[in-house]
Amino acid sequence: MCGIVGYIGDRPATEVCVAGLRRLEYRGYDSAGIAVAENGGLEIVKVVGKLDGLAEALAENPLSGTMGIGHTRWATHGKPSEVNSHPHTSMDGRIAVVHNGIIENYADLRDSLQEEGYEFASETDTEVIAHLVDKYYKGDLAAAFRRAVKDLEGAFALGIVCADDPDQMVAARRFSPLVVGIGDGENFIASDMGAVREWTDRVYVIDDDEMAVLTRHDIVLTDLDGNPIEHEPYQIPWPADAAEKGGHKHFMHKEIHEQPSAMRECLLGRLTDADSPIKLDGLNMTEDEIRGLRKIVFTACGTAYHAGLVGRFLMEKLARVPAECDLAAELRARDPVVLEDTLAIVVSQSGETADTLVALRELKDKGAKVVSVVNTVDSSIARESDGVVYIQAGPEIGVASTKAYTLQLLTLTMMATHFAAVRGTANEEDLRDLRASMLGVPEQTQELIDREDDIREVASKYYEAPDAFYLARGVNVPSALEGALKLKEISYIHAEGYSAGEMKHGPIALIEPNLFTVAIAVEGEVYEKMIGNIQEVKARSGPVVAVAMDGDAEITRQADDVLWIPECPELISPITAAIPLQLLAYHISDMLGREIDQPRNLAKTVTVE
Ligand code: AGP
Repeated sequence: MCGIVGYIGDRPATEVCVAGLRRLEYRGYDSAGIAVAENGGLEIVKVVGKLDGLAEALAENPLSGTMGIGHTRWATHGKPSEVNSHPHTSMDGRIAVVHNGIIENYADLRDSLQEEGYEFASETDTEVIAHLVDKYYKGDLAAAFRRAVKDLEGAFALGIVCADDPDQMVAARRFSPLVVGIGDGENFIASDMGAVREWTDRVYVIDDDEMAVLTRHDIVLTDLDGNPIEHEPYQIPWPADAAEKGGHKHFMHKEIHEQPSAMRECLLGRLTDADSPIKLDGLNMTEDEIRGLRKIVFTACGTAYHAGLVGRFLMEKLARVPAECDLAAELRARDPVVLEDTLAIVVSQSGETADTLVALRELKDKGAKVVSVVNTVDSSIARESDGVVYIQAGPEIGVASTKAYTLQLLTLTMMATHFAAVRGTANEEDLRDLRASMLGVPEQTQELIDREDDIREVASKYYEAPDAFYLARGVNVPSALEGALKLKEISYIHAEGYSAGEMKHGPIALIEPNLFTVAIAVEGEVYEKMIGNIQEVKARSGPVVAVAMDGDAEITRQADDVLWIPECPELISPITAAIPLQLLAYHISDMLGREIDQPRNLAKTVTVE
């Protein structure tokens, strides 16, 4: 996930673009760059690392041009480096592009352009756009783009400029967000309205397969074939200083709400329809290796560990490979025995967690093949793995992991389904159902977010409780652990995630009226037993909040409150059940006035053992 901006008016474009990129830095901070129309050409400045580096470079070599585009990068293809930074240009440097999204067919396009003599400077997917537009450019930038876009597959929000015409900017969108800021004698483009709010509170929100041609005094909106379209200007309701959070009170809240779009990016190019096989670029395993697997060992920390526990369950259930999941901090202590044909799956949002990196090295030294499921491109864990499947969540700023968790689960579910298909250990109809359900997860997640007011209502009943239990069975035991972790790490309420079947072996002694219990009781193999566990808690006067599937009449007779989730296969439910538990923890913490994005004693990435 990256951030793009653009400006055309009478102010220095660098001033507007850098300020706009600061509001977008939450979208990525691997590198930053800018292209400004200057002295008949385009001046390009790019730096690796945070935006401050770009601001310093521009302070040393100021540019006065009043039309330009800018970019802050979250690497998806090609490591963070100056050459991979945006803007990317045509070979003659006269056309420049900034891009947020993923061009799925970039490799094929690159090959055919190279055969036509185009030379590539970077490893990115984006650079193909610059060369394609150049290929079709005959003096009209918008016309050249309209032809080039017919060759593009995948997601994009684009800003494009040409040195030949410094009084025009082209912008376009497919799947990745884009707004056009409406000024007076000046106009703007950006990945979200927070980046332009300082200068205008009126924007056009661009829809998929639409584009805009901007001059200082005009904005022409069309579809990608050039047919005019209409949009009413949207009045931004919040002040400029709320910008980088896009109007959300906390990054955590923003990231919970980003999950549907992030999930679509995670699925893009990997799972296209229920009947097609899953493609996991970067897995780096042959089908023979997958069929020859004798053991899978997951290892991770915290939330990523909970994702690993779900992955372990799915790999055994679907791919029928013996699997285990170990806390990274404990793995080395037990000096594990690693058999031949063992796959280690290492899960990490940051890719820099010290305990997890040490565990990776331990397993690798003992002969395991290592595949990591990581968010941060080119991170230490990614670099030391034999294969990497990136979750494409974009930067996660809130210390409490939310979108990274559900995208780890989605990625691991795709992986387990793929392994089962290759190993022939599950029937095709079941696998097709799982693929169809995964494709429906973004929409179900949006539906769950739309129920936020109901969840806030439940939070208002329990936010003063001193303790909580989170109970589940089977594939959702990790969901209980994760729900409890979300609550305790941001609200400071003591919460324990537990196997519901274990309660009668001691913990049930703790049940009392002011301790609430969250019970995950979704339709599936363990539902009846969960109803029994809920009754055991209720019999001891413990209030129960159930997570249940829409239409379950029985649960309303058993629980005090219900967090409803849309119907889905039980094996998919850890993903959807996570959403109401994230929102419950968030609203309880918000009602307690906690520092939700930076909870006490915690850091986003734990780079010490
Ligand atoms: C989760 O909300 C916490 N922030 C923490 O448990 C985190 O998941 C853990 O430190 C692992 O981090 P990683 O995914 O970056 O390796």
